[in-house]
Amino acid sequence: MTRSFSRREFFKSAMIGAGVAALGAVAQNAAPKIQGFDETNAGKLSDQPWKPVSDRKVKVGIAGYGVCQFGAAFGFQNHPNVEVVAATDLFPERCSELAKLTGAEKTYASCEEMFEKDKEIEAVFIATDAPSHARLCIAGLKRGLHMASAVPAVFGEEQLGLADELIATVKQTGKTYALFETSAFHEDAYAMHQIYKAGGFGKLIYSEGEYYHYCGPGHEVPSYKDWRKGLPPQYYPTHSNAYYTCVTLGSFTSVTCLGMKSMIEVFQPTANVYKNPFASEIALFRTSEGGMSRMAVCWDMPGSGGEKGRIYGQKGAFEGRYNGQEDVSKIDQNKGQLPPGMQAGGHGGAHGYLTDDFVGAILAGRQPRVNVATALNTTVSGIYAHMSAMKDGENLKIPQFVL
Ligand SMILES: NC(=O)c1ccc[n+]([C@@H]2O[C@H](COP(=O)([O-])OP(=O)(O)OC[C@H]3O[C@@H](n4cnc5c(N)ncnc54)[C@H](O)[C@@H]3O)[C@@H](O)[C@H]2O)c1
Repeated sequence: MTRSFSRREFFKSAMIGAGVAALGAVAQNAAPKIQGFDETNAGKLSDQPWKPVSDRKVKVGIAGYGVCQFGAAFGFQNHPNVEVVAATDLFPERCSELAKLTGAEKTYASCEEMFEKDKEIEAVFIATDAPSHARLCIAGLKRGLHMASAVPAVFGEEQLGLADELIATVKQTGKTYALFETSAFHEDAYAMHQIYKAGGFGKLIYSEGEYYHYCGPGHEVPSYKDWRKGLPPQYYPTHSNAYYTCVTLGSFTSVTCLGMKSMIEVFQPTANVYKNPFASEIALFRTSEGGMSRMAVCWDMPGSGGEKGRIYGQKGAFEGRYNGQEDVSKIDQNKGQLPPGMQAGGHGGAHGYLTDDFVGAILAGRQPRVNVATALNTTVSGIYAHMSAMKDGENLKIPQFVL
């Protein structure tokens, strides 16, 4: 049975993963120490000092301060190349709290109103509910703004058309689009990517990722208009899929996915808008290198939870550390220093890095780490995985996104 949560009860519940580590510094005032919220260890950092690309400040607007309080959790307000000038949330008290925490002097009743009326903003971070990301990012890009979005990039089968529109809009406008996929800046996934680029794995034969987050009775996560209620697991595939797509910048070309009917009430197909019977879905993908990836998203298995992965290549593997045939000791595997005053933040010290990467991409005119092609290859493959699970594992071809 779903019960409604007060904010305080929610924070007290044993939340992990989906956002939860994300709450970071903001939540700490409001709540006692909670599992996952304090995953702020960025790992071993390289000695490389942070180098500014320019001394310009990008004027940023931030949309969304919901259950995960994400709008304030990525450190835009502390970045030396950012001035947060505007904030918005549909709920006035969330909006004013977001403005207070980020130092935004202007507030708007909605993101749409901010797009329409604000003449200063150059870039916007979308931290609204998952179903609104693609629509708001497309509107922002068309309005001439650089856009960053919390995950996922698009939401569900009904939004597959928006995936094509999003990449087309990025190409047309030439603006920066970044997906804030936190796994990409986990210590291990970061090292995997560095070693992969340098050839230390060869092609990946096999990779596996898991996003386990128990959402059973007493552990439900509230959400705007209940988008999390009965959510098909593979509609939220990015934390696990990133252990292939954000490591190699490759994609998944086809999928077979299986689900198991859940015992949990909200995952009965008549009890959710998605007609979804599954709270756990295990996908087997064919990769663009010709290899295999097993990616799991599970909501109904109580346990320690986590957003994790391992990779196995022709020349070596990474399971917590590199073990293989190449000498990788000269490859810089560690994240660099962040700008002074910026924290690494939650989700394995990923938040600050995502923001710094997005701002650096805007200023340098380069691609961000999780650009629109990687964002869509990471997200849309999960939507197809759920479609496959609904057909008891029928193998489905997955559209490919190339910038
Ligand atoms: N590890 C991660 O990367 C991670 C973790 C947690 C959450 N997330 C993502 O972060 C996002 C936010 O999560 P949440 O739990 O806070 O969501 P939520 O559903 O609790 O809240 C969404 C907020 O967005 C606001 N909003 C919706 N439409 C708006 C609009 N047009 N203009 C202004 N505000 C609008 C709502 O008022 C609400 O406060 C989600 O998309 C979620 O998927 C990612």
